[in-house]
Amino acid sequence: MARYLLTVVRPLYKWLRHATTDLLFERRYGVHTADLVYLDELGLGDAERKRYQPTGWLSLVRILRLSEVGPDDVFIDFGCGMGRAVLQAAIRYPFRKVIGVEISEKLIGIARDNLARNTSRLRCKDVSLVCADALDYEIPDDVTVAYFANPFTGSIFNRVIKSLIESVDRAPRTVRVIYANPVEESMLLQTGRFRHVRTARGLRPTREWSRSNSIRMYLLEPENSTVRPVPSADQRLDSRPRS
Ligand SMILES: C[S@@+](CC[C@H](N)C(=O)[O-])C[C@H]1O[C@@H](n2cnc3c(N)ncnc32)[C@H](O)[C@@H]1O
Repeated sequence: MARYLLTVVRPLYKWLRHATTDLLFERRYGVHTADLVYLDELGLGDAERKRYQPTGWLSLVRILRLSEVGPDDVFIDFGCGMGRAVLQAAIRYPFRKVIGVEISEKLIGIARDNLARNTSRLRCKDVSLVCADALDYEIPDDVTVAYFANPFTGSIFNRVIKSLIESVDRAPRTVRVIYANPVEESMLLQTGRFRHVRTARGLRPTREWSRSNSIRMYLLEPENSTVRPVPSADQRLDSRPRS
């Protein structure tokens, strides 16, 4: 049965999904984000750096409610690739600023083209696409939503998460971390600083396939803060733990 799912259902499902998203999003926005690109092909190969594979067009919508984003919020996508999540964030939500950080010049060039074709659609007009290794990038102290679509693992993930914690300790605020395909979740939780608040499950037939399609949200709050920044009523997160 599992073999049948993998060899027949999965390719068919992927083809159908590709055709639908192409029609609904790629053509609609006039963008090109649907490739699979291995970093070896770009001369950037490293075991901890993950290939470019776009997140689903509805990924952000599934995990981040519109009412939870206000005009002071700043979104960052670590490993933004061709800019799909950046576009979702800037088109749909009233962020003050949207940032994409990407190690590949080629991919960020495509992201810039994609963005340029959609300037009139952007709800957030302040979008910045930075070509940098996330390890060298200094996280701005006003970031409040950090998006990771499994861009890197191991020591890179560890160091970027450490920088995010340092940023919150320097400039106390609550950061919502959104992690799609959260392969390094245990590393995140071991810091003792992240609280899982929500999961958007992948609706896929096998457990592993569902896991790789799941998205989780965590809160990172200032350490020892007696007064925690409280989201306004319409921004309040549902913090009931769900596994
Ligand atoms: C799974 S894709 C992410 C897709 C993207 N966030 C989206 O919304 O469609 C992972 C991306 O992370 C980038 N990446 C890998 N290691 C990186 C690093 N150290 N610094 C910045 N970007 C990196 C890859 O080039 C790739 O584009």
